[in-house]
Amino acid sequence: MRILVTGGAGYIGSHTVELLGRKGHIVLTVDNLSRGHREAVLFGELAEVDLSEKEKLKELINSFRPDAVIHFAAFIEVGESVKDPKSFYRNNTCNALNLLEAVVESGVKNFIFSSTAAVYGNPQKVPIPEEHPKNPINPYGASKLAVERMLQDFHTAYGLNYVALRYFNAAGADPKGRIGESHNPETHLIPLILKAAKGERDSFKIFGTDYPTPDGTCIRDFIHVCDLAEAHLKALEYLAEGGESCALNCGYGTGHSVKEVVETAKRVTGREFKVEEAPRRPGDPPILVADTRRIEEKLNWKPKFNDLEYIIQTAWNWELNRRF
Ligand code: UFG
Repeated sequence: MRILVTGGAGYIGSHTVELLGRKGHIVLTVDNLSRGHREAVLFGELAEVDLSEKEKLKELINSFRPDAVIHFAAFIEVGESVKDPKSFYRNNTCNALNLLEAVVESGVKNFIFSSTAAVYGNPQKVPIPEEHPKNPINPYGASKLAVERMLQDFHTAYGLNYVALRYFNAAGADPKGRIGESHNPETHLIPLILKAAKGERDSFKIFGTDYPTPDGTCIRDFIHVCDLAEAHLKALEYLAEGGESCALNCGYGTGHSVKEVVETAKRVTGREFKVEEAPRRPGDPPILVADTRRIEEKLNWKPKFNDLEYIIQTAWNWELNRRF
């Protein structure tokens, strides 16, 4: 297949580009490199284009003639979205609309969208099924939910087929160590723990130890980024075979607490580091765990790396030998 990937120079995007390239697909990455890394694009061409430039997007799509588009490019930091919602709606929602317009005007029929567990807001039920009410509690989640709604409407009106993949906590890195997570500033749990283990940070702070969970810390569903990449490939194949448009959770259905992640990281790295207890971070739901039945059924997706130690091991290898 010929696949156009926006945000292919980012964390999840670059792992997906690597998988697509390895499987023999022809990939064009579109990335403005505002957050992504040129060195992260291991296969295919990179077009440095901003998604606000709709005419350029149309030209690219018309010359590349993709069979499908995967849209990763977005801002991801929840706290930042609360402080600066206009940037999030501009980049995540308006630019997605530009892309969707260019896609339907160019006659592309299949679209995969990077959505998020943040569309659910505070879960009323865990594990969270896809039909759970969508009440995002931050602009990040709202900016993504708006795109899911556009996809439904574009499907009805213009026949665009889509899969919206709702990521839980993506983690880990390429087992060969070529690419990995590199955000600036970094706010995610596992990279911050590993930076403390490496001695790059003085300590690691646990945000909240008084949650209604067995050890008092938040519980998350960590999914290895390579399994997540595989879900994109499966979603492409599913649409190519005529699968019906849908939204699917991406997780393992297994929760790990922040304390458990810290302990596992100590074991994997063999390093001791300072761990401090800090107040809760606003907007963190106590437990986010995916109900994964639908993705398993629809895509016949089977995770290969459902193992917290392995996730942390690959992230640690990357942290010790980062290329960017
Ligand atoms: N945490 C700490 N200390 C830190 C950083 C994080 O204790 O220094 C805790 C957080 O409070 C949270 C857990 O680790 O309880 C996970 O935090 P992350 O920031 O790694 O991930 P989130 O669960 O907040 O966010 C992820 C994605 C978002 C997405 C969200 C879905 O990164 O893009 O899941 O709700 F929106």
